[in-house]
Amino acid sequence: MTTLSYTEAFRPQFHFTPEAHWMNDPNGMVYFEGEYHLFYQYHPESTTWGPMHWGHAVSRDLIHWEHLPIALKPDHNGFIFSGSAVVDEKDTSGFFSGGSGLVALFTHADEYPDTGRPRQRQSLSYSLDKGRSWTMYEGNPVLSDETITDFRDPKVFWHEPLSVWVMAIAAGDHIRFYTSGNLKEWSLASEFGATEGSHDGVWECPDLIKLPVDGNPGYHKWVLIVSIGDHPELREGSRIQYFVGDFDGYRFTNNASPDTILWLDHGRDNYAGVTWSNADQENGGKLYVGWMSNWKYANLTPTSTWRSAMTLPRVLSLVTRKDGVRVAQTPVVEVEKLRRSTVSWEDIIVEPGCNLLAGHHGDRYEIEISFEPGSASEVGLKLRTSGDEETVVGYDVLNRLLFVDRSNSGTTDFQPHFGCKHSVPLELVDGMVTLRLFMDWSSIEVFADEGAVAITDQIFPDLSSTGMELYTIGGSVKVISLQLHELDSIYTGMNT
Ligand code: FRU
Repeated sequence: MTTLSYTEAFRPQFHFTPEAHWMNDPNGMVYFEGEYHLFYQYHPESTTWGPMHWGHAVSRDLIHWEHLPIALKPDHNGFIFSGSAVVDEKDTSGFFSGGSGLVALFTHADEYPDTGRPRQRQSLSYSLDKGRSWTMYEGNPVLSDETITDFRDPKVFWHEPLSVWVMAIAAGDHIRFYTSGNLKEWSLASEFGATEGSHDGVWECPDLIKLPVDGNPGYHKWVLIVSIGDHPELREGSRIQYFVGDFDGYRFTNNASPDTILWLDHGRDNYAGVTWSNADQENGGKLYVGWMSNWKYANLTPTSTWRSAMTLPRVLSLVTRKDGVRVAQTPVVEVEKLRRSTVSWEDIIVEPGCNLLAGHHGDRYEIEISFEPGSASEVGLKLRTSGDEETVVGYDVLNRLLFVDRSNSGTTDFQPHFGCKHSVPLELVDGMVTLRLFMDWSSIEVFADEGAVAITDQIFPDLSSTGMELYTIGGSVKVISLQLHELDSIYTGMNT
């Protein structure tokens, strides 16, 4: 029986965390028989990265999670790196005696026996009991290529028009696509990306998804998501880019010029994110979750018994903007069930020096705000404040920039680049800025422009930093609407 209270300093109260020890990438997400499965890169013996296993949890609402025993453990083929899972409905693999079941496809990581060079090969494991137990396929590994050292993170999906499995996999500086009829034998179909997008770091954790554009069920584009690893000389660390284009079952073509770079998130802490298999949303959107950390400092963050959290689960969609089609992210609607109490304001003019939120406190909440900046030069929210601590979400009116400044957000000194301010262009819509944000004990997620702009950041404020302020500089601001929702902890009622 667990005796955890989930009240350690910085323990997220409505984001997924492992009960204890180290976690990185989300893996193998799949919806099957009423349950959302979330596996994750896990080191069960330490709070820093080490020999990788797949930890495992399930949920019926994407918010409350039940922790299950470790699903995949290292074996004679090596450690268990990132990968995906699918429902093999037609028993193409032959693992399920004509029925259906779950197949996980992941990277086995070890070393070439003679040279010690890292070796990364792809393997299968399958489950006949809804993911509770797993059998390693005796024919592992099923895919290897001795010419590539960084060859990992297979993401597999069923391509209905061609009745074939497609695998997207990172291969050093590009993505490869393989196809298969049975998940066991794979043929190389094409390569993408050696001269496209950002190459600031090694390419990892791809995902290829088909999404309707502007919700139009008759018009789709394909999105290729690619994580790129940390580069010691760049402050940003690891981050995710994406490409929008077409896919014919074999080949992905980018609709933008090769030098276009599209970032999925403009904060520092949304990495290695991929989508759920078998969980298409009613509007055609795909369910996504990312690892809410950054290889620049992931091993150094000041948590105690565990390390790292996932982002809120989000629905990905495509929206048309003036520069092209862009990915939008919206937290799953189930998050709204956590709203415990709401305070609202409407049509209020706030002058510089007045704080509309004076007297309000919180460390776990959602804010929805629309404002007309009018003559102000900067408008924003100072959150998790006390003494000189503050996390600022602001809008620089003159330069049309949305920013998060975590320079003074609390504990920041574990890595020189952690304390920082970052910005992203954001135009006014009908003269207004509209933001939605989620504050947890150690993170902030900000969404703007209907999710086409996202900023996800970890913060480590003192427990006593619960103040909040709406500020304006250089002129008054008209708050069209403001809602402050206090959110329940997902652990409420668990330990009583
Ligand atoms: C991404 C990553 C993957 C790899 C895993 C190892 O964060 O580097 O490419 O499979 O982490 O834990």
